[in-house]
Amino acid sequence: MVQEIDLDKIDINAEPPTEEPARQYYFMAKCRQYVREEGERLGRPLSAAVVNFGCQMNARDSEKLNGILDTVGYELTNSEEADFVIYNTCTVRENANNKVYGRLGYLNTCKKNNPHMKIALCGCMMQEPDVVEKLRTSYRFIDLIFGTHNIYKFAELLVAAFEQQGMVIDIWEDTQKIVEDLPVERKFSFKSGVNIMFGCNNFCSYCIVPYVRGRERSRDPKDIIREIEKLAADGVVEIMLLGQNVNSYGKNLDKPMTFAELLKEIEKIEGIERIRFMTSHPKDLSHELIEVMANSKKICRHLHLPLQSGSTQVLEKMNRRYTKEQYLSLVENIREAMPDIALTTDIIVGFPGETEEDFEETMDVVRKVGYDSAFTFIYSRRTGTPAAAMDNQVPEDVVKARFDRLLKEVQTTAARKAEQLTGQTQPILVEEINRQDASLVSGRLSNNSVVHIPGDASMIGKLVDVTLTECKGFYYYGKPVLHE
Ligand code: 5AD
Ligand code: SF4
Repeated sequence: MVQEIDLDKIDINAEPPTEEPARQYYFMAKCRQYVREEGERLGRPLSAAVVNFGCQMNARDSEKLNGILDTVGYELTNSEEADFVIYNTCTVRENANNKVYGRLGYLNTCKKNNPHMKIALCGCMMQEPDVVEKLRTSYRFIDLIFGTHNIYKFAELLVAAFEQQGMVIDIWEDTQKIVEDLPVERKFSFKSGVNIMFGCNNFCSYCIVPYVRGRERSRDPKDIIREIEKLAADGVVEIMLLGQNVNSYGKNLDKPMTFAELLKEIEKIEGIERIRFMTSHPKDLSHELIEVMANSKKICRHLHLPLQSGSTQVLEKMNRRYTKEQYLSLVENIREAMPDIALTTDIIVGFPGETEEDFEETMDVVRKVGYDSAFTFIYSRRTGTPAAAMDNQVPEDVVKARFDRLLKEVQTTAARKAEQLTGQTQPILVEEINRQDASLVSGRLSNNSVVHIPGDASMIGKLVDVTLTECKGFYYYGKPVLHE
C-alpha cells in the first residue's frame, strides 16, 4: 500500500507528535534508525517474521505488523530464526494457547543462538491477565507484549523495546480508537481483507472474544471505501470484509448505516470483482442483505452462517438469540433468493448440559441445511465466560463420540453437495501455483470451493472460466475454457 508519510522528512530528534497516525510515523522513522544501526553492527540486514495463530482478523492484523516491519527496514521472512519474531496469538479455544506455550520453548533456543534476537507476543491471548502474568514471571526472554487494542502503536512499542532493558508490556482493557492510514504489507497482491468493524457485543456465553477484542466499533464508511479504492488501484480484485458480526455494522456510527447499504457502496467501486464477508450472526441477518446479495454481480455466492447448536434449548444457554426454527427459516429465505449459494457454518459439540437429544437436534439441522462445509469444534472452557461456570460439563468421551458422528455427517453432506457442480463452467480467481504439482494452479469459485487447473504463474490474480471436470470431495480438478 502507498505510504502516507515520507519518513525521510521526519525529525526524529524533535518531540514525538501527539496526533495519529503522525506519531506512529515518527516512531517508524526512529525505529528505522535503530534497525539500520544494528544491521551495520552485524554486517547484514535484519530479518523479521510474523507468525499468525488465529482467524482472518488476526491475519489482517499480521499484515499491518508486516507493513510496519517492512517500513522500518526489516527483511520479511517466514523463518522463526529471524532477528525479530512476533507471535500474533489466538485464544478462542484452549488448544490455541497451548500451541503458543509449546512453541515459546523453541524460540528461547533460537534466542540463545542469536542474542540480538527480539521476541514479541501480541493478539487475543495477551488480553488475558493470567497469561501475561505467566509470561512475565516464567518467560523472561520475551522482549515485548502488547494486546489487540493498541496494535496501531506497534512502531512506538518497537522503539521502546530497542530503548529499554527488560520486557516491555503494554495491554489496554478497551479502546474506542481506530487509527487509519498506517502501512500494510499484503500477503496476496490480488486479494485483501478489509476490517469494517472491530470487537463484539454479543457475549455468546462460551466465547472469550468480546472480552479480548472489546466492544463493537464500526469504521467510518468513507474510510472503508477509500481503503478499497486504493486497494483496487493497487491491483486487488477480491476483498473480504471482516468483522465478528458484520450484520450489525454501522449501528453505532454518528450517521447509522446498515451492512447492506455499505455493500451497495462497495459494489460501485471499479476494479473490485468479488466481495466476500465474514462473519454473519444469524440473529442480525436482514432481508435487506439477502436482497442486496441476490441482486449483486460481485458479492460471492457464499455465506458463513454459524449455527453453533441445533437445539433451541442449548442456543438459549449459549445466548445466541435465535431458535432452531428461526435458523432454518432464515436458511430457507436465503436459498429461495439464491438457490446456488454455498452455506458454511461453525458448530460446537459438548456445550455444558448438551444432552443426546440436543445433539440430535444439531444433526437434524445439519441434514436439513446440507452445508457445503462446516467447522466443527469441541467445546472449550474459557475462564471468565458464563459457560465456564455452568454445571453439567459433558464428559470428554461423550463429546468425542458426538464430535466424530457430526464430522462424518458434515463430510458426507459436503461431498454430496460438491458433486452436484461437476460438469459446470464457472469463473475461478487463480490464487497460487499448486503446492503439490507445479504444472497446476489453484483458485476459488465464487462459492469458495478450491479448483485446480493446468496453468502457470501468469494466471495468478486473474479470473478464469473453468469447467469442473472431477470432484474430489471438497475440491475439484478443472480445465480452463478457451474463449474465441
Ligand atoms: N469452544 C469451542 N468453540 C468455540 N468457538 C468460540 N468459542 C468457543 C469455545 N469456547 C467457535 C465458535 C465460533 C468460532 C470462531 O469458534 O463456533 O463461531
Ligand atoms: Fe464470539 Fe458470539 Fe461474538 Fe462470535 S458473535 S465473536 S461467537 S461472542
